[in-house]
Amino acid sequence: MTAPSHPQPGTPVLETRGLTIQFGGHVAVDHVSCAFHAGTLTAIVGPNGAGKTTWFNLISGQLRATAGSVHVFGEDITALGAAARADKGLGRAFQLTNLFPNLSALENVRLAVASRHRIGHIFWQTAARRRDIIDRAADYLAQVNLAHRADTPVASLSHGDQRKLEVALMLALEPEVFMFDEPTAGMSVDEVPVILDLIADIKRRQDKVILLVEHKMDVVRALADRIVVLHNGQLVADGEPATVIASPIVQEAYLGTPMETPA
Ligand SMILES: Nc1ncnc2c1ncn2[C@@H]1O[C@H](COP(=O)(O)OP(=O)(O)O)[C@@H](O)[C@H]1O
Ligand SMILES: [Mg+2]
Repeated sequence: MTAPSHPQPGTPVLETRGLTIQFGGHVAVDHVSCAFHAGTLTAIVGPNGAGKTTWFNLISGQLRATAGSVHVFGEDITALGAAARADKGLGRAFQLTNLFPNLSALENVRLAVASRHRIGHIFWQTAARRRDIIDRAADYLAQVNLAHRADTPVASLSHGDQRKLEVALMLALEPEVFMFDEPTAGMSVDEVPVILDLIADIKRRQDKVILLVEHKMDVVRALADRIVVLHNGQLVADGEPATVIASPIVQEAYLGTPMETPA
């Protein structure tokens, strides 16, 4: 349902071309062109307000671009809404507003699994199929270390557990592109490795695109194949981590105190 059957060899999984959005007089994302291939993890860094989250929103379809385009496996998907883009393989960690707060963690993941597999009318499903969906949902919960919270209503989860649930929901969508926007922000120290290990696991499988907005440079160094730096909505550096981190422009302007400060 995601990759077209015959993409051109070498076609990036995801590409933004001249992607731009203007809020009033402020250009939050300014002609950002960037392509991502399968099996890569790109860290996106830059000071607060650089446009990282807005760029994600333009890719996932939460926001409509003022100019430019978004391509998945070469197909221009700029005209599609967020749900259709998710069908094309763009996985954005759900925001809490996308969750059903009174349903349990397991129920929320189960709905995501069902939506991924186009299972609208649960009554039409056999008991075995239903069991399979619940088992998968439970497995995704276990992967983010939330098995013990399966029956807890989402509204009662701690902040860290809600963040983990967002990741479980993204896993359930089985996307081609994983977009993690500060996935460990606000998590306690012992929760952070669960999420980072999970991201490393997805990377190890070598066939997805992972985009990771992350402030902690030790995490970036450990995980990223590539670093893209945004500043004032513009892409100002793009390359392998050692080179980007060492580049004078990044050292002086972007790797000072603002970026070392955890979100
Ligand atoms: N919906 C919006 N309306 C107006 N301005 C916005 C909106 N979303 C983001 N911005 C502005 O766009 C800029 C980039 O924000 P953001 O993408 O959140 O930065 P980052 O994620 O890099 O910290 C900021 O100046 C922010 O205030
Ligand atoms: Mg942000």
